[in-house]
Amino acid sequence: MSAGLSREPLSGADWFAVEFDPATREVVMLDQRLLPGEVRYHRYRTADGVADAIRDMVVRGAPAIGIAAAYALALVARDVTSDAKMFLVANGTAGRVLNATRPTAVNLGWAIARMSRKAGQVAERSQEERFQSMLEEAESIHRQDVESCRRIGELGAADVPDGAVILTHCNAGALATGGYGTALGVIRAAHAQGKQVRVLAGETRPYLQGARLTAWELHQDGIPVEVITDNMAGYFFQKGEIRFVVVGSDRIAANADVANKIGTYTLAVLANEHRVPFTVAAPWSTVDLRTPSGADIPIEERSPLEVARIGSTTLVADGISCRHPAFDVTPARLIDAIYTERGVVKPKIGERPDVLIG
Ligand code: MRU
Repeated sequence: MSAGLSREPLSGADWFAVEFDPATREVVMLDQRLLPGEVRYHRYRTADGVADAIRDMVVRGAPAIGIAAAYALALVARDVTSDAKMFLVANGTAGRVLNATRPTAVNLGWAIARMSRKAGQVAERSQEERFQSMLEEAESIHRQDVESCRRIGELGAADVPDGAVILTHCNAGALATGGYGTALGVIRAAHAQGKQVRVLAGETRPYLQGARLTAWELHQDGIPVEVITDNMAGYFFQKGEIRFVVVGSDRIAANADVANKIGTYTLAVLANEHRVPFTVAAPWSTVDLRTPSGADIPIEERSPLEVARIGSTTLVADGISCRHPAFDVTPARLIDAIYTERGVVKPKIGERPDVLIG
């Protein structure tokens, strides 16, 4: 599974979603569409190539696509030979293309804004100095994300009961972040503390991130995991098997409403009906205080063909339409805890993320 990287990955593991190779000055990404059957890395030399990869789900997961976009803007700086003004135009154009690829995940806009501030600070410097500064900024975004995931993991693990069966949805793991993961970070940390945890991974139709990615990741770490189809969740709640739910997020509004992979809201309703803690793990870069509530979060609509087909197999007869909202919003009143690297928010008792602004 070698990516042929010229240095140790910043992810902290020997595999990763996205890295920069300083020797070849390329972005390297694991093709998540091929997992678990094949571990194949692709190399990208242009921001447009990275944008296509984000749109096509080579890389996915809110923090990971933010990091990919940051490295993509370093590629722009590597290539632009012209003066400060043209450098900023090129950075702005690439940023807009990257930002339009996935509208729900706010980490994308957050990373692009941070890189654009850096571009403004270094625009007058030489091409090589601009590139080195932009690369350092992207690496700093990447390193901070991994550190945040580890802190989130510690905070969340404290609430995980020993012996718990934990339900998670989609993939909020190392594959969806700079490394370690958010929801899977909580599970990894609980496991590392010696808690006997077992995971139920919802398969997550239509892209099957739970079945293909979460199960693969946990299996690599020796954490017990079983895959269920999405429509089995109610059965396992009713049987009393599930003791804790933890999911990731693509955007957390100012009122603590949480957008995450389609199907998350259903699980929150079930968890509340069965009095099981429903929790969210996300870095602060996922918190969007400028979006007042979940109703204001743009929900990405993806191609209906992704619902009508699994791989090359067509499930739905020609001429019948399908719907494909890629995310849903879980209202704050259903959420027991949001773990961020800044601390824990308890939406059910009326707390909002701004309680963590010191
Ligand atoms: O469509 P995806 O696979 O990008 O959706 C990913 C999710 O919904 C994750 O739960 C979310 O991005 C959090 S990742 C730490």
